[in-house]
Amino acid sequence: MRWVVGNWKMHTTPSEAAALARQLREVLAPLVVAHPEVRVVVCPPFTSLEAVRHVLLGSPIAWGAQNCHEEVQGAYTGEVSARMLHELGCTVVLVGHSERRRYAGEDDGRIARKLRRVLEFGMMPVLCVGETLAERRAGYTEAVLERQLRCSLAGLPEGAWNRLLIAYEPVWAIGTGVAAEPEQIAGAHAFVSGVLRDLGAPAAVPILYGGSVNAENVRRILAQPTVWGVLVGTASLDVAQFCDIVRAAWEVPCC
Ligand code: PGA
Repeated sequence: MRWVVGNWKMHTTPSEAAALARQLREVLAPLVVAHPEVRVVVCPPFTSLEAVRHVLLGSPIAWGAQNCHEEVQGAYTGEVSARMLHELGCTVVLVGHSERRRYAGEDDGRIARKLRRVLEFGMMPVLCVGETLAERRAGYTEAVLERQLRCSLAGLPEGAWNRLLIAYEPVWAIGTGVAAEPEQIAGAHAFVSGVLRDLGAPAAVPILYGGSVNAENVRRILAQPTVWGVLVGTASLDVAQFCDIVRAAWEVPCC
């Protein structure tokens, strides 16, 4: 199984999102139907979810959300719950994206609660982990990954492990146009796998890579045997590039 997840971030109004989803459906739906081993998911802003759902319903392209609140409902002005996203047909929810950690001050404890809430409502969390440039330069990459993984995943019920994706996204590679080198990705993925095993993951949990993935570098990245797929930001807004990336997901053999 391969995964291509598009993160549209704070781009697209509902009408723009619907137009983008329509183009993706037109080009990608027949290809994705022919390659059921590849899962394609797009994550528009909350306000565009209904419009995207309307366009993609009945197609092989799924949709998900970029975040959710850790509580089910209540006096949390401006927040959106997993329960609401579930009713909108979301299949995945990004949890702990570095932009949430950085700009919204999300800590590991909160991310752990969000992740459990997403699971409770039958959706797949995509737990994003990754080090900053300063942390990498100081030699703390593994320590950071281990802390993020342990805090979010310790004590996870056994049945939850096969309903979870991890995205290794080095912060220095996100939105910079400079993706991590395949060897850096392979190293980080191997380390993540080891921590997951240590935490009790019964089987291989899919680990994606994210950070400046584009049509030009995706094949090199997917050629790493540890990479189950990609989380794509900027390039997911460009129909031609995103389609190329999806094509690479079945053209590059899984190891
Ligand atoms: P990018 O974003 O592809 O624009 O680097 C990736 C992400 O933030 O998930």
